[in-house]
Amino acid sequence: MLAAIRSAAVLGIEAYDVIVEVDVAAGLPAWTIVGLASSAVKEARERVSAALTNSGFALPSRRVTVNLSPADVRKDGTAFDLPIALALLVALGALDASAISGLLVAGELGLDGSIRPIRGALSLARSAARSGVRALIVPIANAAEAGLVTQTQLASAPSLRVLVDALRSGTLPVVVPTAAPAQRHECALDFADVVGQGAAKRAFEIAAAGGHNLLMVGPPGAGKTMLARRLPGILPELTEDELLEVVAVHSVGGVLAPGAPPSRTPPFRAPHHTISTAGLIGGGSGPRPGEVSLAHRGVLFLDELLELPRHVLDAMRQPLEDGRVVIARAAQAVSYPARFQLVGAANPCPCGKYGDPAMSCQCSLADVERYRARLSGPLADRVDLHVHVGAVAIAALGAENIEERSEKMRTRVLAARIIQRERYAKIDGVRLNSEAAGRWLLARGGVTPEAKALLEQAATRLGISARGYHRALRVARTIADLDGVSAVNDGAVAEALSYRPATAATG
Ligand SMILES: Nc1ncnc2c1ncn2[C@@H]1O[C@H](COP(=O)(O)OP(=O)(O)OP(=O)(O)O)[C@@H](O)[C@H]1O
Ligand SMILES: [Mg+2]
Ligand SMILES: [Zn+2]
Repeated sequence: MLAAIRSAAVLGIEAYDVIVEVDVAAGLPAWTIVGLASSAVKEARERVSAALTNSGFALPSRRVTVNLSPADVRKDGTAFDLPIALALLVALGALDASAISGLLVAGELGLDGSIRPIRGALSLARSAARSGVRALIVPIANAAEAGLVTQTQLASAPSLRVLVDALRSGTLPVVVPTAAPAQRHECALDFADVVGQGAAKRAFEIAAAGGHNLLMVGPPGAGKTMLARRLPGILPELTEDELLEVVAVHSVGGVLAPGAPPSRTPPFRAPHHTISTAGLIGGGSGPRPGEVSLAHRGVLFLDELLELPRHVLDAMRQPLEDGRVVIARAAQAVSYPARFQLVGAANPCPCGKYGDPAMSCQCSLADVERYRARLSGPLADRVDLHVHVGAVAIAALGAENIEERSEKMRTRVLAARIIQRERYAKIDGVRLNSEAAGRWLLARGGVTPEAKALLEQAATRLGISARGYHRALRVARTIADLDGVSAVNDGAVAEALSYRPATAATG
């Protein structure tokens, strides 16, 4: 007998309909799974057989054929276990075909018949909402995530047995997801913990307000890592749309805590410098999104930036440019969003003490040159804010300092964001000053004649490239927005110019 049920495969962060057909025929007991299935999918037969048996369903010795269609889309993962089990029960006559009609089903099965979490549940829910289904059945651990899409009826059960019993009685085990993604989880790290470093804090506030990439250079122990970790605390919460994008990527990447309500705090990813290109950009079997995508709509912090191999750094150029990663595969190209804010930290030389009057650098001049040359690569060219973070005096650390709290900084950042939202409301793909076209800013950005004159003067005198010119313009616009003024005056431009790299190699 033949039975069919609807499921879905996720490619990138998009879900595609997959029909799971199961045929049971007389013959020697055997299982065949066809339809461009990966080895993880093929192992479904072991899990499904054990889960059915351990849930009290008799499996007669027959020939079982599972077909996943369309056959030209590659299927990976364990989410087909549950639809295969349900279709098999229908094919065996243990469940009515009407019980599964109109459902979209996905879930992994444990050998004991428990229903286990899957990746990409939010993508499934979005697809289900678009095409319309009677209900979407996902594992309980994925209900909070799938429940972000409120248009779809959601059903779930802890085990195959409970689910089948409900379906047999004509009911759906409906779950009401704990719909509380709203709250921002309070960032425990406060800029007030960092003593001094006023210039760096100012740069972080500008970076947060305009979405600019930022690079810190300074000696060990100056507080670079401390500063970077405090950036998410002054960023605005994710919007509704951003939240869906972020959770979709994190779900596919397998980094969502099962069952936990999704957080509105922008992602903060800080991979170690030994990370591979695939780990950073994405890839591998599957494939999986990399750190640049897991940092989508948030912050990618690369500590000890210069310890990353050149080819790994260079691989980041494309996502920095396009806000998207495309991973070429033999079968089909997979793409993930990757619109992140880059924050880098580096020492000025191999020993870290170069340029600091209070410390003596042990490196040869050639070493220093070679080290800094790596900073002037294509990556540094995409960074709007370069800041020197000097060592803090030990005495200052013990003193009773009153440093400004993150909350106050965030208030100013939010105000600057509102101004930008209005300015770019009609420009597609632009939300922030860092994303605005330099020429648009020059023509429509409120730059005063004095500010233009100063920029041009500096460009000639300091040998700033056209790209560097536009970069200074974007930062100056953000500075004016933080001040709440519509005009970009020469003061804002002068400050923006101070965030140019110390190494004159990049413009
Ligand atoms: N400005 C500061 N205010 C308060 N504590 C500080 C400051 N700078 C450094 N510290 C202390 O020193 C420790 C090291 O700081 P941090 O790791 O941020 O330095 P770093 O600049 O990243 O150094 P490295 O280049 O070695 O990575 C912090 O955990 C903190 O205890
Ligand atoms: Mg550090
Ligand atoms: Zn040195």
